[in-house]
Amino acid sequence: MRAYDIIAKKRDGKKLTLSELEFMVSGFVKEEIPDCQMAAFLMACYIKGLDIEETVTLTQVMASSGEQIDLSSISGVKVDKHSTGGVGDKTTLVLTPLVASVGVPVAKMSGRSLGHTGGTLDKLESIPGYKVSLSMEEFVGQVMRIGLAVIGTGENINPADKKIYALRDVTATISSLPLIASSIMSKKIAGGAEAIVLDVKVGSGAFMKSQKEAEEIAKLMADIGKKAERKTVAVITNMDEPLGFAVGNALEVREAIETLKGKGPKDLEELCLELGAQMLLLAKKAGDLSEAKSMLKEVITSGKALDKFSQWIVAQGGDGSVTESYRCLPQAKIVSDYLAKESGYIFSVNAEEVGRAAMILGAGRESKKDKVDLAVGLVFKKKVGDYAEKGEVLVEIYANDMEKLDQADTIIDNAINIEKEKPKKKPLVLSTVKE
Ligand code: URA
Repeated sequence: MRAYDIIAKKRDGKKLTLSELEFMVSGFVKEEIPDCQMAAFLMACYIKGLDIEETVTLTQVMASSGEQIDLSSISGVKVDKHSTGGVGDKTTLVLTPLVASVGVPVAKMSGRSLGHTGGTLDKLESIPGYKVSLSMEEFVGQVMRIGLAVIGTGENINPADKKIYALRDVTATISSLPLIASSIMSKKIAGGAEAIVLDVKVGSGAFMKSQKEAEEIAKLMADIGKKAERKTVAVITNMDEPLGFAVGNALEVREAIETLKGKGPKDLEELCLELGAQMLLLAKKAGDLSEAKSMLKEVITSGKALDKFSQWIVAQGGDGSVTESYRCLPQAKIVSDYLAKESGYIFSVNAEEVGRAAMILGAGRESKKDKVDLAVGLVFKKKVGDYAEKGEVLVEIYANDMEKLDQADTIIDNAINIEKEKPKKKPLVLSTVKE
């Protein structure tokens, strides 16, 4: 078998077999196939597409390219959640202790920020002492003991996805539905969960720009889940404006804690209740969505979810005082107000641009090697549909560098659109797709 022939076969739009996909993926992981051939192969897949059978096969081949986590020693149905990536998306920080406090074990592996989208690991690292690497024994042991753990995906889990994603990132081959679906599902399958809730984001801040495209990829991932015997539910959610008010690592940790105290932004709370309820249903902890949501609201009101958050942070070496005071979090040196230039309704906020502004401030990475500034970011004071008077504060910009602050200010200026008429707001949860 030769990589050249497989590339040519896909270039000509032909269907690839299991052994051909295995040959490409394992050859690339073992560095027998060079970047140039893999890049050509990925571009052929991007242009000619992969059918469902090829996508399922590619997912399985990638998932088995490294270690697969065995969570069978943890009792109960292990449910994982994954977001396709958004701006201000701190749901994992809220959702994990929320569902764990109603008895659903969560053994989660998360990623870092890249481009305009944030990453859970960076957010967690803004809590002093939090360890994102645990041995497998420590990871599983912590979930058995307290019901939750969140770590980074280790080097030997799904090495194929890490290498392929890095190459896609520099060859304009990220935005391919089968490549995104196989990348996400191979990580979830290697992570060992029995059931998966996917948050498929659609809108200006998401990879998927139309609801149709989001539903298509959701269906594809649900089908892959079914073939791999993992119950999968995908919730299609709006990412036309940032989720909640805060964008930036330490700022998002504060907002997540406020949400666990029942004082968070409405949209973030609504999303956490929706995704959490789907997780409870898959774990057979509730009979229907409304019962599941009541159970989750109850653990917020009683303080159990917040206690679970503290227990989790302390178990992973973090400073548990963070739930009482945010002083332990990294603080930016400069806080500058962005003011409304005219009176009117906030008609739209381009989430991708907001993510870019946060990245320029230092909250995210343009390339994998970039270092993140955990203190910086943006806190919005208004959401789409709110009215603002000229001169009112619309955004607080947290910065550590004047030049970056000026650049972020210019981006924000273009990202926020104020109009005289009130916009029609799209619902946050657009639809649900099941296998
Ligand atoms: N998120 C992933 O994990 N993989 C992709 O390919 C795109 C988004």
